[in-house]
Amino acid sequence: MAAIAYVNGAYAPLSDAKIRIEDRGLQFGDGIYEVVYVHNGRLADPELHLARLFRSLAEIELRLAQSPATLMVVIREVLRRNRVETGLVYVQVTRGAARRDHPFPPPGTKPGLIITARHRPAPPTDADAWAVSAISLPDERWARCDIKSTNLLPNVLARQKARLAGAYEAIFYDAESNVTEGAASSVWIVDKEGKLITHQLDRHILPGCTRAALIHELEQRQISLRESPFSLAALRTAQEIFITSATSFVKPVTSLDGVPVGTGMAGPVTKLLLQFYLEPITAAEATPVRRGEHRGDR
Ligand code: PDD
Repeated sequence: MAAIAYVNGAYAPLSDAKIRIEDRGLQFGDGIYEVVYVHNGRLADPELHLARLFRSLAEIELRLAQSPATLMVVIREVLRRNRVETGLVYVQVTRGAARRDHPFPPPGTKPGLIITARHRPAPPTDADAWAVSAISLPDERWARCDIKSTNLLPNVLARQKARLAGAYEAIFYDAESNVTEGAASSVWIVDKEGKLITHQLDRHILPGCTRAALIHELEQRQISLRESPFSLAALRTAQEIFITSATSFVKPVTSLDGVPVGTGMAGPVTKLLLQFYLEPITAAEATPVRRGEHRGDR
C-alpha cells in the first residue's frame, strides 16, 4: 500500500505529493513541526504536542487557519488512510510559498501544511534492548531552541557525526560546558550522588513533550527531580544517562564518547522510568492519555 500524505488540503500518495519550489520551509527552513507517537490507534500525549505546535507557531508569528480540533481530524484521517495503528505522525507547518524574499510574505499567503504517518514497532518494555551510545558535541545551534523549528541543520550535522562515530545520539554542551539536550532528544542523568537531573526549560532546549509527560509521572509518585544545568563533567561521571523523545521514549545511553556509562548497562532508574512512561500509553483500556501541563517557560 502506497503511503499517503496530506499536503495543503489534499491527500496524495507520498511519491506524487507536491509542494511549491518556493515554499519557505524548503528555502528558509521557515516552519515548525511535531512528531507524535501513536500506540494501537491512540496518540501519545496529543494535548502536549498540539499545545507545543501552537506555541511554536505563535513564537514565529505564524497563524494557522485550522484549529487544534481540525488538525486532529486530519491527523486521524492520515493515520486511517495509512492504516497506521502503531507508529509516528509528522506534522509540519511552513510560512507558505511566495517569491523568495527574507521578510514575511504578503498577508494572505497560505501556510503550508504537511502531515504524514508511518509504521514503527512498539518500544520494547525491556530497557536493555533499547540502549544506545552517544557522543558529546558543542551546541552550535541558535538562541531559540525552545521553538520546534524545521531548521535542523546543526542537528543534522551533529547526528551524522554521531552516526560516523557508531553512536545514536549527539549530546550538546554549551559554552560554559553545561549539557543542554540531545540533537533530537531531552537528556537526563542520575548523577554520581544519585540525583535525577535534567536541564530546566528555557530558550536553550526544546520543551520536550516526553519530558513533560515523564515529569507528570514523577510528580504522581513524588519522585524528586532537579531541573537545572548540569556540567559535561557530571554527564561523564553519571551513574545513568537516558534520553527522552517521541521516538526514543525513555532510552538508556550506556556509552558516552566510547566510555561505558556506570555499569555499561541500562540503570535501575532508567528502567523504572521507561515503565512509568509507557504504562498509560500501552494500557489496554482506551482512555485518553492526559499528562501534565505543557510548560514553555523561558
Ligand atoms: N525530536 N530536543 C530536541 C532538539 C528534539 O528534536 C526533540 C524531539 C526533543 C524531545 O521532544 P519530544 O519529547 O517532544 O519528542 C528534545 C523529534 C522526535 C524529532 O525531531 O524527530
